[in-house]
Amino acid sequence: MLDIRASLDAPAAAPTAIRREDYQAPDWLVPEVELKFGLDPARTVVTARLTVKRNGGHDRPLELDGEELELLSLKVDGEKREARFEDGRLVVDLTGAAATVETEVVIAPEKNSQLMGLYASGGILCTQCEAEGFRRITFFPDRPDVLSRYRVRLEADKARFPVLLANGNPVEEGEAEDGKHFALWEDPFPKPCYLFAIVAGDLQCNADRFTTMSGREVELGIWVREADLPKTRLAMQALKDSMAWDERTYGREYDLDRFNIVAVSDFNFGAMENKGLNIFNTRYVLADPETASDGDIDAVAAVVAHEYFHNWSGNRVTCRDWFQLSLKEGLTVFRDQGFSEDMGSAAVQRIDQVRTLRAAQFPEDAGPLAHPIRPDSYMEIANFYTATVYNKGAEVIRMMRTILGSEAYRKGTDLYFERHDGQAVTCEDFVACMEEASGADLRQFRLWYSQAGTPTVRARLEQVDGGATLHLAQEVPPTPGQPAKQPMAIPLKVALIGADSGREIAGERLVMLERAEQSISFAGIDEPAFLSINRGFSAPVIVEADRKPGEIEALAAGDSDSFARFEAGQELMIRDLLAAITSGGPVATDAILTAVGATLRSQSLDPAFKADAIALPSESLLTDKLDRADPARVHAVREEVRRAIGNALKDDLSRAYTQASAADPASLSGADKGLRRLRAATLALLAAGDPQFGAGLAQRQYDEARTMTERQSALMVLAMLGPDIAAKALDDFYARFEDDPLVIDKWFAVQASVPGEATLAAVERLQSQPAFTMSNPNRLRALAGSFAGTPSAFHRADGLGYDWLAEVIVAADKLNPQTAARFVAPLGRWRKIEEGRAAKMRGALQRILGEPGLSKDVFELASKSLG
Ligand code: PHE
Ligand code: ZN
Repeated sequence: MLDIRASLDAPAAAPTAIRREDYQAPDWLVPEVELKFGLDPARTVVTARLTVKRNGGHDRPLELDGEELELLSLKVDGEKREARFEDGRLVVDLTGAAATVETEVVIAPEKNSQLMGLYASGGILCTQCEAEGFRRITFFPDRPDVLSRYRVRLEADKARFPVLLANGNPVEEGEAEDGKHFALWEDPFPKPCYLFAIVAGDLQCNADRFTTMSGREVELGIWVREADLPKTRLAMQALKDSMAWDERTYGREYDLDRFNIVAVSDFNFGAMENKGLNIFNTRYVLADPETASDGDIDAVAAVVAHEYFHNWSGNRVTCRDWFQLSLKEGLTVFRDQGFSEDMGSAAVQRIDQVRTLRAAQFPEDAGPLAHPIRPDSYMEIANFYTATVYNKGAEVIRMMRTILGSEAYRKGTDLYFERHDGQAVTCEDFVACMEEASGADLRQFRLWYSQAGTPTVRARLEQVDGGATLHLAQEVPPTPGQPAKQPMAIPLKVALIGADSGREIAGERLVMLERAEQSISFAGIDEPAFLSINRGFSAPVIVEADRKPGEIEALAAGDSDSFARFEAGQELMIRDLLAAITSGGPVATDAILTAVGATLRSQSLDPAFKADAIALPSESLLTDKLDRADPARVHAVREEVRRAIGNALKDDLSRAYTQASAADPASLSGADKGLRRLRAATLALLAAGDPQFGAGLAQRQYDEARTMTERQSALMVLAMLGPDIAAKALDDFYARFEDDPLVIDKWFAVQASVPGEATLAAVERLQSQPAFTMSNPNRLRALAGSFAGTPSAFHRADGLGYDWLAEVIVAADKLNPQTAARFVAPLGRWRKIEEGRAAKMRGALQRILGEPGLSKDVFELASKSLG
């Protein structure tokens, strides 16, 4: 019997911006929630009983968000009510200070292709609620500052869904009618609805235990399809390592009796930190050395750690509103980086972190989508899960630790967790704790939260007898909505290296650059000095230093800070590559060959570092440093240098390759991973220098491969040498791993990452393969993400690469707006590209915008990209 029927769809009106400064505390709080799910993929009934309390002295009604919900009934304090909707929200008039509001809605998980709310993935029912997915499950004030205690009853067919999970602790389970069963779960910790989760499916558990620092026993479970169980061992180890690390490093102990992780193959992002029930993309859970590369395995550990760390930085202390996203994400990325540094080689980790920042965040900060780590406005919050909020956010936390010192930093986090436990707070609250615990003044430092754009620091070392003066100047570029900037507080670790002795003649010190221009003097410097600056990447800035002849070469060969040494090598390569790209002439390769040769021959450098140091800066990084680049020219010059290295250093490369082949395939130690990394890097350069020799070597490496690291790197080299050369290995790879979707993703990604204009045709063929589907985000990213991330393939002079991507975005948007929107940014980089192609990129964006029924997600990014 239905007394009320209403159907709500996403609003069709032009999207409007939501502004940070308009924040208002919630009118109603919801201390208790009782949910009942009658689970069925086609038709799930959700009954919600909310205890609501008026927040403050106002007379406004209760407003509940809802999206694609069919409302069956509404009751207030047990009495039936007519439903009233305003601006897509369910409005409930209430007279007293408190009430019980009950709704009954129907949803259709199997039709949910957006993967937000309750959806089906490979026979598993699961949820994704961050940021605003809970409103697709039931009517609720869907905002992070409404914290509730949840009691959840799940009922489903026992044969199809033998496992029923929710947040918190299990309370009861039993049989129900018609072959069904039920489970009751309770989460004692009040939480915002974005951390709500349930899972139902035919899952097997890798079960383990962890004893916390106060001696409590926690049951750990990683839930996957039966066939995947053997691939959960590494994730389980990472989970236990993370729990111990957070106790040791931050004094944070786990708080529930259970910690569950579930892996699903359809997922918009990497993983989600739902309280006590993390849900992961299979990609970040399932791994073994035969099917996952070392990089994949490291990523599994980092993501497991990241989601686990959210239990404190995100869940116990959460965000007041979505503008504060970096409060939890920047801090949690910084925490997972610390974990990875402690578990592996800190220097190599740091190089990787900076490489990611430069590849993903610097371009964002320099383009039309630039925003501060704490944005001021958004149309669709899903678009703000960005490298800026995450990775630059982590750099901002790191700078605070650098400025305060580790001890005061830890006092600050202790204060933060203690003072704000159970609250929804702001970035400002975090900084205030840092200030209070340390006594430091972070007023100017706060500009890192409000000003977008990567600062440029110009540095010049002036030497007059007996002393040296470092002249620094900073500039923060204009970004959309922020034409003029104030000088930032920039912590720069600096040392001076003797030009003759090669030793540190002024030991490392922390220089705070706080004004537009500033000079710092060093006493007792009586030999010519070279400048080692921004060591360890102490600030996320672009340094432009005036270099003396031979300075960069000397630092690349011997800076005592290994990160700075890596940086000097990159600076040297960038200098010579850019000179050739802009002059149109050949590259002067002498300095590069000397530096790469010395690195390869070094007896002291570790192999992983060598692999990083001999890699040329990426084409997109070079493009970012140019004014209106021709991507074909950038590619040609970079290839010329790779060829030159492969030819001139063939012996050194071969020797390093052979030595690196000694890596133990069964070992995941840092040393063995480093060797495999060096082997891949040297193979690629050998193949660039001598394609025929390289083809033979790569084929043999492929045939003899015992790990995915060896196999995948060989396959990539073969694919770059041409379709005929790669055909045999590609066929073998497909046949061998046909039943493993994560490996088949690699098969797509490798072929879509081949440089050159011919790749588009291959991508189109791949798109019509039966194994291709747009509804699986991993598969779509493997094809479209890889293609758009390969500049010489994507930037075809005829613009057909842009047209292809635009069509994919429009088609994918109809299924899954969040994932579709992720592919818009590459088209928005047109300001960096020569005018012929740039016009075609704008054309593609315009065509996207002309499409009727575009999602808010794609509309926001495409319109801002043109703007
Ligand atoms: N909060 C998740 C994380 O960073 C990311 C995420 C956002 C996942 C939105 C899904 C949806 O850990
Ligand atoms: Zn996170």
